[in-house]
Amino acid sequence: AEDGYNLWLRYAPLDPVLAADYATQLGEVVAPDQTPTLRAARDELVRGLTGLLGTAPRIQNESSAGHVLALGTPQSSALIAPFREELESLGEEGYLLKRTRRDGRDMLLVASRSDIGVLYGTFHLLRLLQTGTALDELTVHEAPRVRLRVLDHWDNLDGYVERGYAGRSLWEWQTLPEWRDPRYTDYARANASLGINGTVLNNVNANAQSLAPQYLDKAAALADVFRPYGIRVYLSARFSAPIELGGLKTADPLDPAVQQWWRDKADEIYQRIPDFGGFLVKANSEGQPGPQDYGRSHADGANLLADALAPHGGVVMWRAFVYAHDVADDRATQAYTEFAGLDGAFRPNVVLQVKNGPIDFQPREPFHPLFGAMPRTPLMMEFQITKEYLGFATHLVYLGPLFEEVLQADTRAGGKRFTVAQSLSGIAGVANIGTDRTWSGSHFDQANWYAFGRLAWNPDQSSRDIAADWAAMTFSPDPAVVQPIVGMMMASREATVNYMTPLGLHHLMARGHHYGPGPWVDGGPRADWTSVYYHRADRNGIGFDRTATGSNAVVQYAPEVAATYADLTQVPEALLLWFHHVPWDHGMASGRPLWDELVGRYSSGVRQVQAMQDTWASLRGRVDADRHEQVAAFLQIQLREAQWWRDASVAYFQSISGRPLPAGEAPPP
Ligand code: GCU
Repeated sequence: AEDGYNLWLRYAPLDPVLAADYATQLGEVVAPDQTPTLRAARDELVRGLTGLLGTAPRIQNESSAGHVLALGTPQSSALIAPFREELESLGEEGYLLKRTRRDGRDMLLVASRSDIGVLYGTFHLLRLLQTGTALDELTVHEAPRVRLRVLDHWDNLDGYVERGYAGRSLWEWQTLPEWRDPRYTDYARANASLGINGTVLNNVNANAQSLAPQYLDKAAALADVFRPYGIRVYLSARFSAPIELGGLKTADPLDPAVQQWWRDKADEIYQRIPDFGGFLVKANSEGQPGPQDYGRSHADGANLLADALAPHGGVVMWRAFVYAHDVADDRATQAYTEFAGLDGAFRPNVVLQVKNGPIDFQPREPFHPLFGAMPRTPLMMEFQITKEYLGFATHLVYLGPLFEEVLQADTRAGGKRFTVAQSLSGIAGVANIGTDRTWSGSHFDQANWYAFGRLAWNPDQSSRDIAADWAAMTFSPDPAVVQPIVGMMMASREATVNYMTPLGLHHLMARGHHYGPGPWVDGGPRADWTSVYYHRADRNGIGFDRTATGSNAVVQYAPEVAATYADLTQVPEALLLWFHHVPWDHGMASGRPLWDELVGRYSSGVRQVQAMQDTWASLRGRVDADRHEQVAAFLQIQLREAQWWRDASVAYFQSISGRPLPAGEAPPP
């Protein structure tokens, strides 16, 4: 039965005619296996070709004649050595796929300067086969655009995954380091197939114990499993660990004893994990300890850890997600306020990790104003792959378009085109992975892990193309399957925006767990944990005024962007209520007044889910029954909940606007 365990690496048999054609073209395989990484590449190739083509490839030490598929580096393979120069420009992780003739042989090369590049190239070649791509004239030069491509696991040591909807943590701390669950290897394979090169094992709301020797031994065992796949292990560090673990009285970053403690801790880690990636830190945010507890700045805090890691080549990924103090006028402004002025104050091995938008992983946010605003500081994107605010794992929401929209946003930094993607040294994704058989809690949520990884490698790719690859690999390369699935996926994010938070509304989910509607949420300890704080609806209108007449958050953007967002005639309608408080009868592009448009958007979200259901129903028989049935059931849940979102939201806003439902809109039951 298809249970989803194999992700996009199913290697299901191809159409026999296509398979036979590939088999001839690939011929014999020459693949060195001197190192664990080269062995992983060869094993993956064998596994992939055996599944796709129906027979195991013939592995040779030397190629005899005819067609040959050659894997390797100039050092490990005499067949690759002549191409050394062509590989120069591809860097350490890049690779070349090339169809060529040499010495009377027809060769297909999977070549790189490094072993890991060979593994990446092998996965790329397999993807071409999985998607039924022609191999004649093949020439692919690939190199990652972004250096740090990292998954952040919000996994606690007790196995609970914060904001995780796919079961428990993959990491079996209880049985590590002795037992290395084979699933760890499959996790590494899946990530390597995308080029992900780092994993933060534990939650940003970190337990200091993660840095205790017994847990370091366990992390080291995982690092051993991941190493051949090019994946470095990182840990979230609790800023107060010198107190909790070290017995010090303070964690003040300027205290010499604290500095010594972190240096010793780094030495201890690198003894066990020589290629340890570094620390991820959430400080002075949502109650976490940090340098501000001692009157120091974020730069003082980050530099403390950076200095401890620098001799070993590690980095500090310091998070900019802060809104810790008394309720600011506008939570959306706080990260910029605290960090923009620190540009240039960080050590070179600090990377600032910034969420995609200024609030918190909403179905739609404008890009975060820190992108483009800190030219002297390496920045790292933080996306959330797990769908905390987007219906958990049951709603089908393909996040590719969300990621793409943010990455392609033009910051206008320096007064010229400068996209968010161009500003990045790293991309992190909060993982949606757990012990669920599907890994991600649903079949379609695998696509979000997939799209994240592909975009981390090259943030300028199209989310549609990525969806097409994923659908072909996961379900079938038959265009009659791929096309409708891609259509569903590409519409799904906008559908969710429509039935949850249309027109720039945000943070209207139920309190705490964030599942289901809660636009009425009010009261409690903090204004910015309510919904009314964000939508500001009253008898006259709705929306958060972030222009000069309101919080003036717009000034945190470059002047041209600020001018566009601040101008009611220019702001994109999709962000209208993010930046403006407007009357209920404000005229919209459709010609309808805002109130009617809002209700219409809620309803169209529901219809879009119905359309996804119809498409999926039409694929019955083309997709295996097991997966078809589960997706259909989840879509049924999604439809019910889209209706719930619409009915609850419209009823609530109507209680405030006092306006009648527009013609054609059925009253909520
Ligand atoms: C969100 C999320 C928290 C998480 C926080 C963070 O607020 O709800 O669970 O800890 O983001 O990113 O630090």
